[in-house]
Amino acid sequence: MKRMLSRMVVASGLLLGSSVVSIAYAADIAVAKPDAAKGEQLYANGDAARGILACASCHGAAGNSTIPANPNLASQPHEYLVKQLNDFKSKDGKPAARRGAGGADSVMTTFAAPLTPADMQNIAYYLTQQPLDPKTAATASKEATMERGQHIWRGGLPDRKVPACAGCHSPNGAGVPGQYPRLAGQHPSYIADQLKLFRSGDRANSEPMHAIGDRMSDSDIAAVADYAAGLR
Ligand code: HEC
Ligand code: HEC
Repeated sequence: MKRMLSRMVVASGLLLGSSVVSIAYAADIAVAKPDAAKGEQLYANGDAARGILACASCHGAAGNSTIPANPNLASQPHEYLVKQLNDFKSKDGKPAARRGAGGADSVMTTFAAPLTPADMQNIAYYLTQQPLDPKTAATASKEATMERGQHIWRGGLPDRKVPACAGCHSPNGAGVPGQYPRLAGQHPSYIADQLKLFRSGDRANSEPMHAIGDRMSDSDIAAVADYAAGLR
């Protein structure tokens, strides 16, 4: 009986210890919570003292880009945005995982370099809360390939083991919180370029998307890119 009691004391001591740890852990998380206001400030104005260019000059007001070469960032999943900013950075002198055509540095490699982990969290947290602007979001424009695009989006290309895009990017193209980006309203030329970069391996930051791009022809890519842009 005595022994059991002392065991209980030990056990409750352990419990107490672990609750202290979890309080400390919760405080850590609270400190690290992303700050959307700081993210907005950096996104809109940059920080000349640290050599950070205003992201808005290319990606548009609140992440709604009007220039097709520069992707829309509004409403993208938080984690997806943070991952991309990390993947654009070259680490330990090695080339970045996400590169441009021919293996050259992406335009973004320079702009991602000065961002700290907190900057990336803050900007991503700000952008994920911005709505896609219906006035500037891209739409589908190619009537002739619409059906082909829809077919690939909804059913994939089973003969070439290409899975349905809708299965991961969601049926309406809005993406899924976490790692699956929004394609609805994205510029179709940007979507097509990325599929080709996955295919060539210059964008080497997603094995599943490399396998998918690798099995698609240029005309498959053009059709599905246009269709996906028009989804809402
Ligand atoms: C000179 C124009 C320019 C500036 C300034 C710029 N970007 Fe970009 N950004 C681009 C282009 C072009 C791409 C596509 C890059 C590629 O395909 O390799 C891109 C891609 C991205 C992506 C990936 C989007 C996706 O859908 O995968 C993110 C995230 C991003 N930029 C964030 C930022 C942030 C944050 C800043 C400011 C610190 C910034 N960009 C500044 C031009 C720019
Ligand atoms: C198995 C799940 C899965 C399927 C199926 C899938 N994707 Fe993806 N896709 C992803 C993931 C995950 C990413 C993010 C990769 C990364 O981290 O850079 C992505 C990224 C992309 C991007 C880059 C977006 C950007 O903003 O840069 C495009 C374009 C894309 N996918 C198009 C497609 C198309 C078109 C199809 C159908 C032919 C498809 N995907 C099918 C999981 C999938």
